[in-house]
Amino acid sequence: MADCAVPGDDSRTPGRNMCEGRVVIVTGAGRGLGRAHALAFAAEGAKVVVNDLGVGLDGGLDRSLDGNRGRGRDLNGPGGPSGPAQLVVDEIRAAGGEAVAHGGDIATTDGAASLVAAALETYGRLDTLVNNAGFLRDRMLVNLDEDDWDAVMRVHVKGHFLPLRHAAAHWRAEAKAGRPVAARVVNTTSGAGLLGSVGQGNYAAAKAGIIGLTLVASAEMGRYGVQVNAIAPAARTRMTEATFAGLAALPEDVSPLVVWLGSAGSAGVTGRVFEAEGGRITVMEGWRPGPTADRGTRWTPAEAGVAALKLLAEAEPPLPVYGVR
Ligand SMILES: NC(=O)c1ccc[n+]([C@@H]2O[C@H](COP(=O)([O-])OP(=O)(O)OC[C@H]3O[C@@H](n4cnc5c(N)ncnc54)[C@H](O)[C@@H]3O)[C@@H](O)[C@H]2O)c1
Repeated sequence: MADCAVPGDDSRTPGRNMCEGRVVIVTGAGRGLGRAHALAFAAEGAKVVVNDLGVGLDGGLDRSLDGNRGRGRDLNGPGGPSGPAQLVVDEIRAAGGEAVAHGGDIATTDGAASLVAAALETYGRLDTLVNNAGFLRDRMLVNLDEDDWDAVMRVHVKGHFLPLRHAAAHWRAEAKAGRPVAARVVNTTSGAGLLGSVGQGNYAAAKAGIIGLTLVASAEMGRYGVQVNAIAPAARTRMTEATFAGLAALPEDVSPLVVWLGSAGSAGVTGRVFEAEGGRITVMEGWRPGPTADRGTRWTPAEAGVAALKLLAEAEPPLPVYGVR
């Protein structure tokens, strides 16, 4: 089993970092939050597989990358040697850490399977999967095209499911072979998925779906030594700098919680959702039954309405949807 600090162990002697010996995959780690997570894991001694397809803000061509200019790069192909994943690997190595780049699309079976294989073939093990890659296609619902719906559901929901599925199959096989597993998955949801967000119907639905996937994966995989949690981050990245111009918190502020959740030190924590922004960490408390009434037989519609209004008067009002003025 990987050598990891226990909770409360603050020792930081060389060779005894929180994730020494662990192998960690971070998807979408060429920029923003994923990059910060990859650097933070490497700083704690992990070997990191840095995945990034190197796409633009909407999942299309990234015109900020030199290698793409005027060439119409194949978006299903690798991120490329001068792509963002390799640049983060170079940063980790320059700081004395170990990392390898993977440029595949995590929302494809090939991309997800080859990502898990990259960890196993390069470093011989896999301990932590951080699902983070994604993009936005914001529109009000009446203007939301089917393509924009599909692309956002695909990259977030399928892009979480496929790496999780391939990693989970590996960990189950390890557990069945009698090898100890202390695996961790950290998924990335959003305040939009928790509360809703005006202009983000596709994204809010996808990020809410990731919470459901997290709960199921946690329940199914616990018996194999796999813990699955989710974070709802907030940080200034290219994704948020235009829409949330006032958001000053840095991606690096979110990563410490992700590293801890991805370490053996988080033993016993699974199926939970945390918000993280700046110096604040919040445990999100999910749906639970509120006021209830049971008349023991079927209501008429009119009676159901009276009962529902009475229950609503007793219930906690919901938190506002993001973007409602
Ligand atoms: N920034 C925030 O405040 C915030 C808030 C809530 C949730 N999130 C979530 O955090 C995650 C990271 O967001 P960010 O702000 O760092 O964005 P970002 O655009 O800076 O980084 C996302 C990265 O994912 C990569 N990517 C996109 N599709 C991919 C694919 N199919 N395969 C591999 N890589 C792919 C992109 O190339 C990009 O480098 C996203 O899931 C986002 O929805 C961010």
